[in-house]
Amino acid sequence: MVIEDGIVRSNSALARGIYRMDLDAPEISASAKPGQFVNILISSDTNPLLRRPMSVASCTDGCIALIYKVIGTGTMAMREWQTGDTVSLLGPLGNGWEMPSKKLPILAGGGVGIAPINYLHEELERQGVKHLLIMGARQADEHFLSHAPDKNIILTTDDGSTGIKGTVVDGLTQLCEQSTYEDAVIYGCGPSAMLTALMSYTNERQLPCQLATEEIMACGIGLCQGCAVEVKTHMAISDRSYRKRIKLACLDGPVFWAHELV
Ligand SMILES: Cc1cc2nc3c(=O)[nH]c(=O)nc-3n(C[C@H](O)[C@H](O)[C@H](O)COP(=O)(O)OP(=O)(O)OC[C@H]3O[C@@H](n4cnc5c(N)ncnc54)[C@H](O)[C@@H]3O)c2cc1C
Ligand code: FES
Repeated sequence: MVIEDGIVRSNSALARGIYRMDLDAPEISASAKPGQFVNILISSDTNPLLRRPMSVASCTDGCIALIYKVIGTGTMAMREWQTGDTVSLLGPLGNGWEMPSKKLPILAGGGVGIAPINYLHEELERQGVKHLLIMGARQADEHFLSHAPDKNIILTTDDGSTGIKGTVVDGLTQLCEQSTYEDAVIYGCGPSAMLTALMSYTNERQLPCQLATEEIMACGIGLCQGCAVEVKTHMAISDRSYRKRIKLACLDGPVFWAHELV
């Protein structure tokens, strides 16, 4: 983990409300794995005080990409950054996805969760690993990929304006009804309602599933305890200390196996 001054290469809209920023950051890009994130200093004064966590969405040739949704003070400021601007990045942070061995990876991303899924998708393409990608959004104009089932890319929209009508989990259900994916491993990232639905779906079917949680974070390095995630423990009640029940999304995650999470 390093603090590196990234230099903005480009920063523009990808889809409605969603932006992509490419930054020259040779040190971070040399070691960032899919599923890891950077913590970004928004302003050199104290407003906003805390860095903002963003997943690495792509990583090539000394450059990392971020894909971000504008929701508040920090992301509004990021949208204004111009080519050549310097940005303080802390990273790479977190554990990253556990890469598949022999199973078929099915990647499911929705909302702000598309970034870590995108990097995993690119890495699997680079390694020539066959996989399926399901991306969900509310409407067609929030997507930046095209629905292409023949290329194993499936889009879903809440209003049916492109791809399958429904959520990412509806898309996954349809896929699993059409074929048997007993050997699949699911990778999911998105809003908490989507993660909860994916967790129930995969736990019920005993499908292995890794979820990247996007808990609200502060320090990003295990100091503030602000990103606590409760995990299942099979110990006697008397042994269930805080340390055994609680993991930190920034250090132990953000990726967890779904069956571990409460
Ligand atoms: C490990 C990690 C990776 C992330 N990766 C990405 C990414 O790749 N792309 C992306 O767009 N976003 C990502 N996020 C979420 C992103 O960090 C927040 O959207 C961002 O910090 C909001 O900052 P802001 O100043 O614009 O909003 P604020 O003004 O801080 O908040 C606006 C509103 O959003 C809520 N909010 C803030 N952060 C979160 C959060 N993490 N989850 C849910 N609600 C939140 C606040 O409570 C408030 O209601 C990630 C979060 C984590 C923890
Ligand atoms: S964000 Fe501070 S401990 Fe995780």
